Amino acid sequence: MSDIRDDARASFTETFGGEALGVWSAPGRVNLIGEHTDYNEGFVLPFAINRRTVVALGLRSDTVIRVASAYTDEVAEIALAELTPDRLQGWSAYPLGVAWALGEFGADLAAVPGVDIFIDSDVPVGAGLSSSAAIESAVAIALNDVWQLGLTREALARVGQHAENTAVGAPTGIMDQSASLLGKPDCAVFLDCRSLDAEIIDLGFAAAGLAIVVMDTGVSHSHATGGYVDRRTSCERGAREMGVESLRCLDADDLPRAQEILDEVTFRRVRHVITENQRVLDTVRTLREQGAAAIGGLLDASHRSMRDDFEISVPELDLAVETANANGAIGARMTGGGFGGAAIALMPEASVSLLQVALDGAFAEHGYSPPDTFVVTASMGAVREP
Ligand code: GLA
Repeated sequence: MSDIRDDARASFTETFGGEALGVWSAPGRVNLIGEHTDYNEGFVLPFAINRRTVVALGLRSDTVIRVASAYTDEVAEIALAELTPDRLQGWSAYPLGVAWALGEFGADLAAVPGVDIFIDSDVPVGAGLSSSAAIESAVAIALNDVWQLGLTREALARVGQHAENTAVGAPTGIMDQSASLLGKPDCAVFLDCRSLDAEIIDLGFAAAGLAIVVMDTGVSHSHATGGYVDRRTSCERGAREMGVESLRCLDADDLPRAQEILDEVTFRRVRHVITENQRVLDTVRTLREQGAAAIGGLLDASHRSMRDDFEISVPELDLAVETANANGAIGARMTGGGFGGAAIALMPEASVSLLQVALDGAFAEHGYSPPDTFVVTASMGAVREP
């Protein structure tokens, strides 16, 4: 961690000259369970991970914002007062979108000082670990501090989501930013996406000798186009045809009526959301009453529901999940928006290296490139670094 923090400071000086005023960081996330439930006002249970995006920031004497990053050589520059979503594109739409969205949440962009920002990260991009929310949350917490806006972390999560929805154009929910801003070590964030009430839930993985392994398939995905948008539209149609404001208003008792009213595909989409919400509640209860070793069946059921009903898995993710379960995992599922990215496995720490070998073998046998496999721990949400 100290490495990217130091790198970001050094790169700031190299790019902009002078010393950064400070460094802020925010983590990526793994969603333990509760997929495609957030924009349906349902329940999610993500945790912040020990992979972070770091922002080194300096104040300017004018009202210009400049952003540079380790991702590209491009330095984006614009007057704060001229920020509008349609002027933003490419990777800089994430950080600049946050500055714009802070304006929508009350910052006076004509009065705040300009800033230079350098961004570095060790959250893998495209793995479904929310590298985008990590950028948004790190920039949001940094600007909230230096512009003295006094916004709460919950409000900053909405700022990040607004930037992603409006400036980037991806119609994503509130889960990723909430995990990145509210996460605590060895805990998950149990979020009710209707009330936005968040509760911190002990995971107890380390005490139980368990690890979460991320199996990044390397299959890339985008949430601004294609499947994600299509699934969201199906959910909205399902809610409309069932006569409710959101799918959150439905539970298992509504399934027979849903099957009668809805076309076959929409019914399966709706069934995923209804059963996934229940699995989040069951996971929270099981963690409290029996501990982490007892949640494996819920993770497996979640994966089957995403594979068969919501149809957002891909063969590489299914293979990762099957291989994990055949090699000592307690449970496994794809995580994030789907159509690529990563799956996670909950397993005894002692079996992790065996799984890595098994995955390489299974992927080679199917002619797939080897997955990137690594352990993550539940970590602290966004902070100002010392
Ligand atoms: C992406 C989105 C989230 C959420 C998940 C699916 O990560 O950014 O808001 O919808 O997909 O659970």
